[in-house]
Amino acid sequence: MFTPGPTEVHPRVLQAMARPLQNPDLDPDFYSFYDSLCEKIKKIMKTDNDVILHSGEAIIGLEAAVASLVSPDEKVLTIASGIYGEGFANFVQMYGGKPVIVKFPYDEIVKPEEVERALEKEKNIEVATMVHCETPSGTLNPLKEIGKICNEYGIILVTDAVSSVAGVPVETDKWHVDINIVGSQKCISAPPGIGIISVSKKAWEKMERRDQKSRIKSFYLNLLSWKRDWFQNRIFPYTHAASLLYALDEACQIILEEKIEKVYERHQKVANSVRQAVKAMGLELYPKEEDYCSDTVTAIKIPKGIEDEKLRNHILQKYGVMIAGNWGDLRGKVIRLGHMGYNAYPHKAIHAIFALSESLKDLGFKTSTEDAVKTIKEHL
Ligand SMILES: Cc1ncc(COP(=O)(O)O)c(C=O)c1O
Repeated sequence: MFTPGPTEVHPRVLQAMARPLQNPDLDPDFYSFYDSLCEKIKKIMKTDNDVILHSGEAIIGLEAAVASLVSPDEKVLTIASGIYGEGFANFVQMYGGKPVIVKFPYDEIVKPEEVERALEKEKNIEVATMVHCETPSGTLNPLKEIGKICNEYGIILVTDAVSSVAGVPVETDKWHVDINIVGSQKCISAPPGIGIISVSKKAWEKMERRDQKSRIKSFYLNLLSWKRDWFQNRIFPYTHAASLLYALDEACQIILEEKIEKVYERHQKVANSVRQAVKAMGLELYPKEEDYCSDTVTAIKIPKGIEDEKLRNHILQKYGVMIAGNWGDLRGKVIRLGHMGYNAYPHKAIHAIFALSESLKDLGFKTSTEDAVKTIKEHL
């Protein structure tokens, strides 16, 4: 499963899911477990902000952030360089807000100076949204720089760091990210089903103000119910998916045992070697510049004469490797290798590169698997 989430998971994580079930609403031991899990998550996200573990999956965090923060007719700066960045604008519209979109091509990254220009021009903006790693395009946006600008303008920054946290450096607090959203099934390599959301004081205050003006129009996605029930009264707003949290806890434990800086190094090394091997195969990376690439996923242009689904089925059936296709405008044009979390290991990357090269050859593309495998090994 060399896909950009869900990833493969460590056997320890699978075992954790088989742990005897506690009653998450009533068992005091579950409360202590939950507190300690949140502390681990905070270390990984580099934050002292409140952390919510929301049943559902990552997208629930994006929608909940918008539902809870944005008032009807409120302008929101939506910074978009890909499919998920644009998706934020849809959520803003869905909840009655007015997205002011600062748009960049999918194969490029966000330019901080354009974001600053937009903020200078547009007055009355309190909230901005952006995506750190645009998983479909395999790009990594300059979150640190955007966070600095938003902070200078007093803007609340909502970030989708779904496929970057625990793969590449993310400093939630130092980079002024007010709401940061992470997926359990991406670089953390736990099963899908939990959306991880950190919320700053500034973001809570905005939600309180906004709720007084016009009530938040959701029950499940209203983050304020977490503030009022959990953070103020230690009552969970609904029953937790306990088994998924046991798995998430073990996955976080594994990351902390390895040490987060080492985890980043492993990702960087595997990602770079995958990129070099892909180029040695005669393929082209999708991002315009190699510098734009995320170290968690590699997006590759499908070469002429090769059909997307045929290639992915072939590689799975003949070589037992699953790679990812794409969405929207990138569907049929760009495939992806997901080297995040428990996937970011040399033996898995070599296997995937071998399988991709052999499959391309099987389907008539001229390439040398020997060169590809030699290149990846040289860089690992
Ligand atoms: C950048 C990004 N944001 C959000 C999501 C949505 O995550 P989920 O499928 O867990 O809802 C994904 C999933 O691929 C993603 O890559």
